[in-house]
Formats: sequence, structure tokens, C-alpha cells
Amino acid sequence: MSKVEVYYFSGTGNSLVTARNIAGKTNGKLISIPSVMDKERIKIDADEIGIVFPVYHGDIPFIIRRFITKMDNMDKKYIFGICTYGDSPGLSIKYLDEIIKSHGGELAAGFAVNMPYNYITPSFVLKGFFKSFVLREVAIEKQQEMFINCKKKLESIYEFIHARKEGLFETSAEIIEHLVDFLNLKETLGKTVWLKIAGFEGHTNLPFQESLQLMDCGFRCDDKCNGCGICSKICPVRNIKMVDDRTVWQHHCEQCFACLQWCPKEAIQFGSKTSHGKRYHHPDVKVLDMMMCEKR
Ligand SMILES: Cc1cc2nc3c(=O)[nH]c(=O)nc-3n(C[C@H](O)[C@H](O)[C@H](O)COP(=O)(O)O)c2cc1C
Ligand code: SF4
Ligand code: SF4
Repeated sequence: MSKVEVYYFSGTGNSLVTARNIAGKTNGKLISIPSVMDKERIKIDADEIGIVFPVYHGDIPFIIRRFITKMDNMDKKYIFGICTYGDSPGLSIKYLDEIIKSHGGELAAGFAVNMPYNYITPSFVLKGFFKSFVLREVAIEKQQEMFINCKKKLESIYEFIHARKEGLFETSAEIIEHLVDFLNLKETLGKTVWLKIAGFEGHTNLPFQESLQLMDCGFRCDDKCNGCGICSKICPVRNIKMVDDRTVWQHHCEQCFACLQWCPKEAIQFGSKTSHGKRYHHPDVKVLDMMMCEKR
């Protein structure tokens, strides 16, 4: 029987539930990516490797990129990727394939699973556009429908990988995404717009994906905060320090939104329009599941 390792990164639990399900079906070992990021090199100890992550800005999260660069002995392994997404997976699976290839491995297949969106979205106010971002709310009935579809989809993903099939890469809006790449729009327009949405005042030469680490300047804590420190413990990259019972963001953020979405007091805001927004996390995930996956 082949040995399976399922690595995952997750801010609000969608990717954790996905990874947990696949690890259960394959009798695989479930491993949180942040928990191994302190290692200089990550030695793969399995014949089959799953990498599960949320789509960020049509791409893989920055931490997934850093994770792949640390992985050793990927050659001759059966590697599959699963992204969870709110609107569209874009080319994220292709980008995963590219980075795995450049580090000696090959992605056998990549799947996209639709889950509730957990990030901010414009509230369609033109005046003060950069300040008008709110939390996207997905109706409970719609969420339930997504969870049912997700279970079915995971069953078919399992059948595919169990048979060790290859060659399926689930992407969407390919023409638009290739055009965005061709015109370098993320590095020019995307970077400027997203940093502005966060209220970033300075200048950075970091590429788009890395520059998102500075978007934590958009977070603030309101007076509902009781200093419990859960946000600091849940942050997958230890980006929140508690100083005199107050939260201080350290500017190496993944933008996973775990801090804002899991704060029990709903005291963390992003920009000026999130205080009335309904918080989201996957209903089958508890705050302890998120914390226990990190080595501290
Ligand atoms: C910073 C950020 C960027 C996102 N960008 C996209 C996107 O480009 N396309 C999309 O469909 N969903 C996007 N989402 C939504 C997530 O991919 C989706 O909700 C995912 O299932 C969250 O997974 P998690 O609960 O494991 O963190 C984004 C979420 C965040 C936090
Ligand atoms: S989790 Fe919320 S209440 Fe607790 S310290 Fe963080 S911001 Fe404050
Ligand atoms: S600071 Fe918040 S959004 Fe940034 S990585 Fe930590 S938990 Fe995620």
C-alpha cells in the first residue's frame, strides 16, 4: 500500500476540511504546511503527496511557493494539488505545476473545489473606492449547497488519485488570466490597487505576491478586543504579537484572514467597512483545530 502525505494551508478551514477528507480516504498523514516551514529542507517520506491550499488573487499563496522550494526528493512521486476557491481558480493549479517542475517534481493532477469566499470584496461605491471594501457574505443555504457538492467532488477526486490517473488540470478563465500575465497587470495595476485598499502609504519594490505581506497595515483592533491572544496563536506565520494585551501586526502577513475571521469578539477590522460584516469559517473546523496544526 502506498504511503500518502497530505500537506495543507488554510485560513478559514475550507482547505483544512478538504485535506482532512482526502487524508482520511487515502489513509494519509495530514500535515500543516506552517508547522514544517521552520525546517531548512522538507524531506518527503511518501510515495504520494497532496498539496491543498486556497486560491489567492488567482494564484497559489506565497507560503505554498516557499514550501515547494524547501521540498526534497519530489522526483518519481505521485503529486496532486487541490485548490479551494470562492469565485474562480484561475491558473493557480498551473502555477503550482510550474513551481513543482522547477524543483524537480511533476504535478500528476490538480483539482479545484468551490467553497465559500472568505475575503473582502468591493461594495460598488465609486466615491472613496479604495475604502469601500466589505466582507463578502455567502448565504447559509448557498454554503450548505457548496458543502454537499464539495463532498461529491472529493469522492471523485479520491477515485481519480486512487487509480493514480494523471493529466487533469482544473483551471478557469484561462484567456483572461493569460492576458493579465502577458500585460503584467498584477505587478503594475494589481499591486498598486491592493496596497492602496489596505491603506499602505509607503513604497515597495517587492513583487506583487510578496508585497501582499504588507497588506496587514489594513488591520486594526477595535475596543471589543479583550486581549485573549487567540489571533496571535491562530496566525499561521506568527505575524501578530501581543504587546500589553494589544495586537501588533508584523508585516509578514499571508492575508489568510484567519485573525479577522476567528476573533471571538469580532474585534479585528480590515479598513473601515468590515465591522458589520458576518464572519466566516468552515462549520466543521474548530478554533483548536487551527491552533493545533501549528508547532509553537
Ligand atoms: C487574500 C485572498 C485572496 C483570494 N483570492 C481569491 C481569488 O482570486 N479567487 C477566488 O475564487 N477566491 C479567492 N479567495 C477566496 C478563497 O480562495 C476561498 O474562500 C478559500 O476556500 C479559502 O480557503 P481557507 O478556508 O482554507 O482559507 C481569496 C481569499 C483570500 C483570503
Ligand atoms: S482574538 Fe480578538 S479579542 Fe482576542 S486578542 Fe485577538 S483581537 Fe483581541
Ligand atoms: S496576520 Fe492575520 S491575515 Fe495575516 S497571516 Fe496572520 S492570521 Fe493571516
